[in-house]
Amino acid sequence: MAERPYTVLSCCMSLDGYLDDSSERRLVLSSEQDLDRVDGLRASCDAILVGAGTVRSDNPRLLVRNRFRIDQRVAAGRPAMPTKVTVTALAKLDPEAAFFTAGESERLVYCSTDTEAEAGEALGSVATIIGCHAPVQMERLVEDLHCRGVRRLLVEGGGSVLTQFLAAGLADELQLAVAPFFIGDFAAPRFVGDGRYPWTSGGRARLAETRVLGDVVLLRYALSDRFEDGR
Ligand SMILES: NC(=O)c1ccc[n+]([C@@H]2O[C@H](COP(=O)([O-])OP(=O)(O)OC[C@H]3O[C@@H](n4cnc5c(N)ncnc54)[C@H](OP(=O)(O)O)[C@@H]3O)[C@@H](O)[C@H]2O)c1
Repeated sequence: MAERPYTVLSCCMSLDGYLDDSSERRLVLSSEQDLDRVDGLRASCDAILVGAGTVRSDNPRLLVRNRFRIDQRVAAGRPAMPTKVTVTALAKLDPEAAFFTAGESERLVYCSTDTEAEAGEALGSVATIIGCHAPVQMERLVEDLHCRGVRRLLVEGGGSVLTQFLAAGLADELQLAVAPFFIGDFAAPRFVGDGRYPWTSGGRARLAETRVLGDVVLLRYALSDRFEDGR
């Protein structure tokens, strides 16, 4: 494989392993302190990736909120905001979504070649469209991001995208926050789905850090030998 960015996966799950409930409304699992951790993580990265499912259901802005962190990025000669990245097969995304309209960030949409023309028509004025063989292989996606100058990538979900990164061994670090309540709804999206993961009972991931963030606990795992302990 060609070079890929250092990749951090980050999400917050319930005690029973769900990322959300199955209702229409957006569910906040994180504490204020945990949201600040995510903000710091965003500020440290060149790009933030979420799946199209998350763009549709959560309408996230994917911006750095803290002014000091933004100023620090600019002072270091970096863009004020990380690049926003999403991946879709269907290319059914609203150009008015906050992903496309909030902030001045560069925006990239990876889609399959069979929906590339459709995506270009709907989203070409608000994002750069990159067509790939279907389904988009995350290995190719991260190689392409590296070619575009992304050296540190944050993957914020949802479950489908996290599953693919973990199963493909494309993550260097997992920051998993655990919220102190249950969802208890089989129809809700889980942290990950079925898959053959590189970490098993005989080959365990290394727990690098635990941190209490209000009523949320952060579990930080080193998933590759590129893990950067200091951050
Ligand atoms: N708690 C947290 O920290 C957190 C963080 C993020 C998200 N979430 C939750 O996660 C849920 C969404 O998760 P999800 O698993 O349903 O969706 P997701 O992972 O956000 O996105 C899945 C969608 O991404 C596209 N996609 C994924 N892999 C692809 C590939 N290889 N090639 C082409 N397209 C691909 C497809 O889009 P198309 O359907 O457009 O083809 C697919 O339907 C939401 O409920 C959200 O609230 C929670």
